Amino acid sequence: MSTPLLSTLRSTVSPDIGLDLGTANTVVYERGAGAIVCEPSLVAYDVRSGAIVAIGNAARAMEGRAPRAVRVVRPLRRGTISDFRAAQTLVARLVDRALSTRPRLAPRLVASVPGCATDIECKAVEQAVRAAGARYTNYVPQAVAAAVGAGLDVTATRAQMIVDIGGGTTEIAILGTAGVIRLASLPIGGDTLDAAIAARLRAERFVVGRPTSELVKCALAYAGRAPGRAPFVASGIDVERGEPAQREIDERFVGEAIAEVVESIVRAVGAVLSSAAPEIAADLIDSGITMTGGGALIAGLAGEIGARMNVPATVASDPLLCAARGAGEILGSPTLLERLRPHGDRFTRWYQSLRTGMRESYSP
Ligand SMILES: Nc1ncnc2c1ncn2[C@@H]1O[C@H](COP(=O)(O)OP(=O)(O)OP(=O)(O)O)[C@@H](O)[C@H]1O
Ligand SMILES: [Mg+2]
Repeated sequence: MSTPLLSTLRSTVSPDIGLDLGTANTVVYERGAGAIVCEPSLVAYDVRSGAIVAIGNAARAMEGRAPRAVRVVRPLRRGTISDFRAAQTLVARLVDRALSTRPRLAPRLVASVPGCATDIECKAVEQAVRAAGARYTNYVPQAVAAAVGAGLDVTATRAQMIVDIGGGTTEIAILGTAGVIRLASLPIGGDTLDAAIAARLRAERFVVGRPTSELVKCALAYAGRAPGRAPFVASGIDVERGEPAQREIDERFVGEAIAEVVESIVRAVGAVLSSAAPEIAADLIDSGITMTGGGALIAGLAGEIGARMNVPATVASDPLLCAARGAGEILGSPTLLERLRPHGDRFTRWYQSLRTGMRESYSP
């Protein structure tokens, strides 16, 4: 039997950890203690010896300016592990960092994974987590973890909708009675927006690195009407003159560069909504759409989605931390974990993906 007292005692010796191994950021959350480590999903290694030189913030400081012998890599692409060793090191070091202040047994850990993750991809996350020293592991779809972390009562009968826009994926889910009613996962997100901005600048003979296009996006991206912010001065290379230069970039330039990607996200939300039964749609008009992930911070995006869908949309507080917090909090309830785990019926998911035109989605 698991009483609150027993659960508190157990988590004192063996912490409950929520992990969001994201394409852009990795977040570690400790249930009860609230300890949160959030660092960029970046690993720098020495190409000659293979030794890991830095991870997280320290690796970001090297991105684009590392010596030739050092490569800075992102262990994940579009939400899934592309460099296993780097992912494992990142997880191990960040979990250690989160728990370093006190002695403890190996933690129990729930990781959030993209809704489109295959069995093999889930296994890769699980192996990385086990190799990092976790005693018990499980995983939940990212949108579900984000919903719990955003404070939605996923046990309520009334349906609720969550849209998590991360660096590599956009996860959209309708949840009700502690179950997943609809789940869609698109391989687009903040990285796609960064690439669109960089491509538009390149077309104007100005080349910027990935970190710069991300800075431009965070400063000036918007959906709907331009909020009227001051231009951003970006540093890059003037291709005509073949030398370093600075360029003033205004909001409208960024708005136009990202319009197509933003439109695909809005349409995907619409596709999930319109596939829902009328009773669910009625619930959603009441409960609204909650937005999480870094992309939720794009100026005007929640307003645009709300206006286009006729369903109020709001941004959760600390949107980048919700998935890790939710994954950790789910560990407090074994029944919830069992009900929210990814559905095993891959064939249904595959068939649904053909119908909706998305990478993968399912309705259990
Ligand atoms: N203010 C902002 N405006 C626009 N985008 C932002 C802002 N802040 C962060 N982002 C973007 O959000 C993304 C990171 O969000 P998040 O940490 O939720 O992604 P992730 O969980 O690592 O990725 P994924 O879930 O796709 O694997 C990055 O692309 C980042 O540039
Ligand atoms: Mg994420």
